[in-house]
Amino acid sequence: MPRTDPRIHREVVSYVRRSARMNPSQSKAWEAHAARLVVDVPQRELSTSVHPDARVDWERVFGRRAPLAVEIGSGRGEALVALAQSHPEWNIVAFEVFTPAVASTLSRISRHGVDNVRIVLANGVEGLGVLFAPGSVAELWTFFPDPWHKPRHHKRRLVSPEFAALVASRLAAEGAWRLATDWSDYAEHMRAVLDAAPGLINPHDGWAPRLAERPITKYEARGLAAGRTIRDLTYRPRPPVVGDLVHRTPRPDATGGVPL
Ligand SMILES: C[S@@+](CC[C@H](N)C(=O)[O-])C[C@H]1O[C@@H](n2cnc3c(N)ncnc32)[C@H](O)[C@@H]1O
Repeated sequence: MPRTDPRIHREVVSYVRRSARMNPSQSKAWEAHAARLVVDVPQRELSTSVHPDARVDWERVFGRRAPLAVEIGSGRGEALVALAQSHPEWNIVAFEVFTPAVASTLSRISRHGVDNVRIVLANGVEGLGVLFAPGSVAELWTFFPDPWHKPRHHKRRLVSPEFAALVASRLAAEGAWRLATDWSDYAEHMRAVLDAAPGLINPHDGWAPRLAERPITKYEARGLAAGRTIRDLTYRPRPPVVGDLVHRTPRPDATGGVPL
């Protein structure tokens, strides 16, 4: 009998592995745009994993040097494409594990003529840690992450102390992690975890104002229709204490990019 790697079964991830079946228009969009816009990344055993030795030269991928923005869980790309249109000066990398959603995003990117977005079909938690240098991310977005309501599923929530430490290490000195949710218990959980995270500060001392360029996505609309309150949060990396031996290296340059 073949031996199975036990890590495949133990790994806790923030998403459900679903069928990758695409409808005809998604298949068409995939055929037309995936080769150019989806960045292939070496994986481990699971198709959504990112191999720890994987590397991507983002400047080569985008063909230019620019501040890096990252979205984890971009869904159908509604916020992604709106933010890309508002910020053509950023190179934007989106992680999404659900292939049909990525195909819909490709179609949206093409319809809107956006050129500063690339997509990785993989777990963004692993991707952020493996594919981005410390201090290299100008913006990180996690909008309407799955709430995982049941207490026994809370360990699947994207926002955790471990992920907060990873984000703090990856953010550029002036960088920002922007979050939004329509679930009040998850919003409170985010506040509690992130306010306590040693590497992060909350510049608003509470909920953040809504990011003006963030459109109302299907998930937000559903929350609003059900009478839920939308909460935005923003966190920034805590500046290192003078004399602190722990440095955030390499330092980002003035544009938020990583020095070559
Ligand atoms: C509730 S949807 C929200 C989508 C989008 N942000 C929006 O506001 O419309 C959450 C999405 O995150 C994706 N997702 C969850 N965990 C992820 C991870 N670790 N890496 C990449 N995608 C993830 C899911 O597949 C799903 O499409």
